[in-house]
Amino acid sequence: MTLLETIGLVALICIVGRLGLFIYQLLCPVKVDVKKFGQWAVVTGSTDGIGKAYAIELAKRGLNIVLISRTKEKLEQVAKEIQGKYNNAQVKTIAFDFSKDGSSYSTIREGIRGLDIGVLINNVGMSYEYPETFDKIEESEKFVTNMIRCNVDSVANLTQMVLPDMIKKRSGLIVNVSSISGRRPSPLLGLYSGTKGFIDLFSRSLAAECVSRGVYVQSLCPGYVVSKLSGIRKASLIAPTPEKFVVSALDRVTLPFTTGYWTHELQEFFLSSLPEFVSSKLIMHVLSGVRAKALKKRSKTQ
Ligand SMILES: NC(=O)c1ccc[n+]([C@@H]2O[C@H](COP(=O)([O-])OP(=O)(O)OC[C@H]3O[C@@H](n4cnc5c(N)ncnc54)[C@H](OP(=O)(O)O)[C@@H]3O)[C@@H](O)[C@H]2O)c1
Repeated sequence: MTLLETIGLVALICIVGRLGLFIYQLLCPVKVDVKKFGQWAVVTGSTDGIGKAYAIELAKRGLNIVLISRTKEKLEQVAKEIQGKYNNAQVKTIAFDFSKDGSSYSTIREGIRGLDIGVLINNVGMSYEYPETFDKIEESEKFVTNMIRCNVDSVANLTQMVLPDMIKKRSGLIVNVSSISGRRPSPLLGLYSGTKGFIDLFSRSLAAECVSRGVYVQSLCPGYVVSKLSGIRKASLIAPTPEKFVVSALDRVTLPFTTGYWTHELQEFFLSSLPEFVSSKLIMHVLSGVRAKALKKRSKTQ
């Protein structure tokens, strides 16, 4: 066999292997009884969108829930909604602003002390108002600090708080919500992409450290989901509702990395097959369109 033939064969084996794994993960969801991890789930950013859907679905599956979000009234409303639907579920609420100074993490530490925490969903996150080049972001100093605190510090701090006990009892699940934008450069969303990239690598590193000690850690990298943050109001094949998305993602919790939803898996597969300069150009083109629309809308309302 010539050198060229050998290279061709190795490349073919790699492509077939990747495709096989992709199809297997797409078609073979692994249903796990989340109650086996412990009695409580902690969900950050749990009064809207994906976080709220996780809180409700985990209560439905038999867990007590700690809701952590910024707005007290919304927390009380979601707690009421969960207890109205699943009256066996206990719900605790902690009002906490993750973009404020990190010294107050003791509020959360005190709030969850003594609870048998089996599941942590590190969901809280903020994004751009609209895609923009990094040099043109308004009030950029505040924006940078807030986004890093909210998207990065929250994940590392909450994980640090619950992981040692999970390891001790050899049981637990931590889902860290990254984004498909964290998998590769996303021009016009640079800081968001960077913070989500941190979550992706941090989670996959922990997954490898922890799996043999009974704890699953997952990097969850969704594409578009209907929510306030995405600005998408109508569900479609590409952008499911948070409820539909979460049911699908919970069927994949044992995977160290997933997008959580089948059309997002296809999107990720396609993007990861492209050379980086091509995917960056494509993303730049799409997001430039989103930016232009947002600026037009803004100028009309001003
Ligand atoms: N939606 C998508 O298309 C999409 C795609 C990929 C990844 N994601 C990721 O998924 C996660 C959830 O997004 P989402 O679309 O569900 O967002 P969302 O609908 O806007 O909900 C955000 C939640 O986080 C809370 N929150 C926001 N800032 C906070 C802060 N500083 N401190 C405490 N709580 C705060 C909000 O509570 P209050 O209302 O009380 O502030 C709300 O409960 C994020 O990490 C996001 O990056 C979303």
